[in-house]
Amino acid sequence: MAAPHLVRRFTRSLSRRPPGAADVEWVRSLLTPGEFALWSRLPNQDRSHSVRVARRTEAALASTPWAGDRVWLDAALMHDVGKYDAGLGLYGRVAATLCGAVGGPGMPDAWSGRGGFTRRVGLYLRHGEIGADMIRLAGGPEQSAVWAAAHHHPDTWAGLGLDPQLARALDAADHE
Ligand SMILES: [Fe+2]
Ligand SMILES: [Fe+2]
Repeated sequence: MAAPHLVRRFTRSLSRRPPGAADVEWVRSLLTPGEFALWSRLPNQDRSHSVRVARRTEAALASTPWAGDRVWLDAALMHDVGKYDAGLGLYGRVAATLCGAVGGPGMPDAWSGRGGFTRRVGLYLRHGEIGADMIRLAGGPEQSAVWAAAHHHPDTWAGLGLDPQLARALDAADHE
């Protein structure tokens, strides 16, 4: 039988409920106007996920040196913004994740240069670096762009100068 947290995550990913009005206003208060425009076009489940991640990040950082540092809430809200380009639904995302596991680290680059579903899988697997470019173009903080590009690559965190405690808190907030 599947582990309860996996069942919970899958059930939540099926939910199409949008974030509430108060959450949307909170997000607007944290992002640049350009970032908010990018965030607003995301599907409901991606916006709701980002709000949950940012709320958990806020709680996790409350008793740390980064308490009240809004830049890390921006990073939490924007970490998956690059998923928009792939335009994949739930089952396409499951397929993309499996392809990524089977294909290995060099394949997403090659796939994103092809066409059709292969291209979308490649774009999905590269959502971190694509999101980082989007954040920079939208005038977002550099720390958000760095975290978006790095959030699936823990082996790069130390080299990027990310404090281990901070990176672990951001990462844990992303895993429900
Ligand atoms: Fe991600
Ligand atoms: Fe995420």
